[in-house]
Amino acid sequence: MSKRTINFYAGPAGLPLPALERAKEELLDFAGTGMSVMEISHRAKEYDAVHEEALALTRELMGIPANYKVLLLQGGAHLSFAMIPLNLLRHGQKADYLVTGNWAEKAYKEAKLVGGEENVKCAGTTKELKFARLPKPSEIKIRKDASFVHFTSNDTVEGTQWHTFPETGGIPYVCDMSSDIMWRPFDVKPFGLIYAGARRTSGLLVSPSPSSGTTSWRCARPTTCPATCATSSTPRRTACTTPRPASASTSCATCWPTTSPSAA
Ligand SMILES: Cc1ncc(COP(=O)(O)O)c(C=O)c1O
Repeated sequence: MSKRTINFYAGPAGLPLPALERAKEELLDFAGTGMSVMEISHRAKEYDAVHEEALALTRELMGIPANYKVLLLQGGAHLSFAMIPLNLLRHGQKADYLVTGNWAEKAYKEAKLVGGEENVKCAGTTKELKFARLPKPSEIKIRKDASFVHFTSNDTVEGTQWHTFPETGGIPYVCDMSSDIMWRPFDVKPFGLIYAGARRTSGLLVSPSPSSGTTSWRCARPTTCPATCATSSTPRRTACTTPRPASASTSCATCWPTTSPSAA
């Protein structure tokens, strides 16, 4: 491979090179099955292990408490725009929406179709300013009897991102984090529900470009994992600091570069 493109898309993000290389290798033989993960049954124990690890890593990375469920669902954010009010706004319950851009507005319109104009209200917007900024705290009006306050943590089209989450007086947040989930640590507990597309920004990191030099890799998580890194006997996700060539193609998927090839 001669080059890796640095990807600045607002949508799908670049993945770490070791993760891509591992996926490439496992395409013909995943976990000794002689098949790719896409060809085995979704009830196979090998697939089940992938599924369970994805849930456990999400829980670990985001510090999600045990009383929350982590679900892998189909349909992306668009389906959730409808699914959330269908599930949470039964029996005339109310919801307040902060309308801060294109995606927040879509979620709001969908919720109104399900919950009705009376129950679903806009609690704050800067639409009249073409969403040039977020609403100020003084411009936000949350109803005391709202079941939840919906907001979009980063409304991708206009770039209106909440660096401090809105004040709701303890009413739980429901949040579309499609374009910035896991970009920084945050406290999950004020959130009743968070949704986001898995293919987007999770753990975004620019992949290192291939180089003939030596890159130091370290594993992302300081906890233990049963699998073993293929290029050293260091268990995955313990502090794996073994220097290895940047071209090593069998490093474990959770290894990050600590020094870029150009800086090395
Ligand atoms: C903040 C936000 N919400 C929702 C969407 C739509 O997501 P999906 O394609 O998963 O329906 C996007 C972009 O695609 C987005 O950036």
